Amino acid sequence: MKNVLVTGGAGFIGSNFIRQIIKNEKELRVYNYDALTYAGNLDSLADIAGDPRYQFIQGNICDPEQVASALREHQIDTIVHFAAESHVDRSILGPRQFIETNVMGTFTLLDAARQYWLTEQTFPKESVRFHHVSTDEVFGSLKPGEPAWTEETPYAPNSPYAASKAASDHLVRSYGHTYGLPFTITNCSNNYGPFQFPEKLIPVIILNALEGKPLPVYGDGQQVRDWLHVEDHCEAIHLVLTKGATGSTYNIGGENQPANLSIVETICDILDEIAPSPEHRPRRDLIQFVKDRPGHDRRYDMDTTKISGELGWRPRHTLQQGLLDTVHWYLSHPEWVASIRQKQEYKGWMDANYKSR
Ligand SMILES: NC(=O)c1ccc[n+]([C@@H]2O[C@H](COP(=O)([O-])OP(=O)(O)OC[C@H]3O[C@@H](n4cnc5c(N)ncnc54)[C@H](O)[C@@H]3O)[C@@H](O)[C@H]2O)c1
Repeated sequence: MKNVLVTGGAGFIGSNFIRQIIKNEKELRVYNYDALTYAGNLDSLADIAGDPRYQFIQGNICDPEQVASALREHQIDTIVHFAAESHVDRSILGPRQFIETNVMGTFTLLDAARQYWLTEQTFPKESVRFHHVSTDEVFGSLKPGEPAWTEETPYAPNSPYAASKAASDHLVRSYGHTYGLPFTITNCSNNYGPFQFPEKLIPVIILNALEGKPLPVYGDGQQVRDWLHVEDHCEAIHLVLTKGATGSTYNIGGENQPANLSIVETICDILDEIAPSPEHRPRRDLIQFVKDRPGHDRRYDMDTTKISGELGWRPRHTLQQGLLDTVHWYLSHPEWVASIRQKQEYKGWMDANYKSR
């Protein structure tokens, strides 16, 4: 690993990942390849923007020429692929962009890597790697009591987002099998932590609760997720890149099973404690049950035996501590939040998603 292209590095997880590897891998050069869609924000990397080992490239993963020239110009030997349309609710309101970015974009990257690494034999095969970042949502939904998903669980995606990610996983695997492209895939559960775009559940609840606005909870709030702190996720990806077996898939999860309602209640209690508001106490009173997401998956649970057994990875954050740290982070970064929330695109989408619920 010398020259790493991180796609989607201006997004939530990608920016955390870049910060972490710039800090931990002193010999690496990191190229952040991002189209800066609504979800991309270079402010998330302001602290490392001046590092001589970091460079931003504004580019679209769906553009074969742009991708090919980025690989060549910077002699990329490792691709860590985060770029995607990532919000399930957006995939329900407008699925086309998900197919274009997640399926065609991944295909375009794979094909450019095949050409540059394999056809042109630019580097020894052992020194290149395509790492694909995927989701637990490819596995569908679990009933109460059903065992957690392993790497062998058959895919059963339920939303257009999940289907587009499943398709991209299959493409990656097929490039490994057919052309011998060295790859790894990680499927992770719901992430939370610093720099998460403020339309996803945890930031929406923190920010609304802080401002005394209603706290929208879909359906009965009993949907169960496996919450993973973004820094634990990034450490797992780093381990897979450096020690994971080529051609392997690893599940990553946070080892917890709270219902969404319990996440919302915990955030309310944390805020009541650290930022008490006489008008809105307790903040749990702000909870409002709203119309459920169509086809809302009921429960996700990841079996992380493989990654912990093979690579010794375990999440470092407990959910309680991770949520407390995340609430503190949003409280101490009001400018970062405001710069996103003032954009028309953000306001328009929040209205489209919540007003008719
Ligand atoms: N957030 C989660 O909880 C979660 C859970 C499981 C898996 N994942 C996966 O992790 C990856 C990162 O998720 P995230 O939450 O950081 O996403 P995000 O939406 O915060 O960021 C996505 C980034 O990709 C960029 N991008 C989008 N389309 C692009 C294109 N065509 N070309 C180049 N860049 C483009 C955006 O500008 C943005 O910076 C995604 O692949 C997602 O499917 C996320």
